[in-house]
Amino acid sequence: MDLSIVVPTFNEAPNVAELVRRTAAATEGLEREILFVDDSTDDTPAEVERVAALAAVPVRLVHREKPSAGLGGAVLEGIRLAEADICIVMDGDLQHPPEVIPEMLRAHRRTGAGIVAASRYTGGGAATGLADAVRTAVSRGATLLTKAMFPLRLRDSTDPMTGYFLVDRTQLDLDRLRPRGFKILLEILARNDIVVAEVPFDFAERSAGSSKASMRQGMRFLAQLSVLKFGKMSGFALIGAVGAVANIGIMAGLTHLGMSYIWAAIIAAEVTIVGNFLLQERFVFREMLGNASARWLRFAKSFSFNNAEALIRIPVLALLVETWHISSVLAAVITLAVAFVARFAFHSLVVYAPQREGAPSRRRVLAQKLDEQAMQPGEL
Ligand code: GDD
Ligand code: MN
Repeated sequence: MDLSIVVPTFNEAPNVAELVRRTAAATEGLEREILFVDDSTDDTPAEVERVAALAAVPVRLVHREKPSAGLGGAVLEGIRLAEADICIVMDGDLQHPPEVIPEMLRAHRRTGAGIVAASRYTGGGAATGLADAVRTAVSRGATLLTKAMFPLRLRDSTDPMTGYFLVDRTQLDLDRLRPRGFKILLEILARNDIVVAEVPFDFAERSAGSSKASMRQGMRFLAQLSVLKFGKMSGFALIGAVGAVANIGIMAGLTHLGMSYIWAAIIAAEVTIVGNFLLQERFVFREMLGNASARWLRFAKSFSFNNAEALIRIPVLALLVETWHISSVLAAVITLAVAFVARFAFHSLVVYAPQREGAPSRRRVLAQKLDEQAMQPGEL
């Protein structure tokens, strides 16, 4: 097999037949397969089966009963299950014209690059299909920000957010990838030192159906950026910072309504603790949820820890001021910093610990795990 074309689909039934027809025509003469990795809730799987029976190329369907990690997870699964080492990842809505595939293959043969990205932003490329001016501005801005954050790893990529690319899976370590949301190419480029070549393409209008991009995907993208750049701890810190601002806001609001500041502080603290828990479940420890204990137990542990921390921190602060005679502000900074590290350690090692029988963890193993969690890759 020369080539596997991996197509993630979520409710793309009206596009399947046309996509298979054009892809088969564009790759005529090659030993290839089309692999749909499908998370649909509509009749897309049935449509793929129907088209497969008549198609001029082998068409395979993997329907994920329990989809994880969305589009990125589907793509990674497709690359793993592909027959060929050379995979083309392509959207299922024909915004990625299959006619570009031969150029990507030529670029791969010419350069030996591990990734050949089809770019909207290199000479001759275009983004005709971006819905409107807002979407175009968001895409441009996000690309700039991302390139600014990874100037080395993305030096050869004009369009790290494209979802259309060739990947030679022998050149990268799939186990290093932690896909979340839409931007799987960014995940690959940020975590692998891999040679990138590009070919221009025109991002077309969606053929049929509707886009699955959303505000939520946008948030997920920001979390992905921060985790890729600064490690997992930064996602946690970001949520902590958001929580602190919310805390102050709630307190101000409640005292303004006439509540006593003690009660306002208590309510603000509890609301923040619950809010932070929900955010960190979704954005920071997401890929650990599968092996962790039940949600209520995670919540109980997290909630107790944060309350205990709040109770202990104040007396410790007083003790520091009284015995070390340092300023209360400095003491607050110290206690907050220690509390932050302790909170991160407690959450990654206890709250989200993988459940396994026997084998009590030793201190070495703990230290290693903490190190792993905190130091997940960024770049030099
Ligand atoms: N399996 C699976 N699971 N596929 C999904 C999921 C999911 O949860 N969500 C979306 N898809 C599929 C869609 O069916 C489509 O084939 C492809 O992923 C892209 O999704 P769209 O809904 O068309 O999103 P888009 O057009 O906004 O995003 C595309 O353009 C971006 C560039 O602006 C994607 O290709 C992005 O990767 C690309 O960066
Ligand atoms: Mn699309």
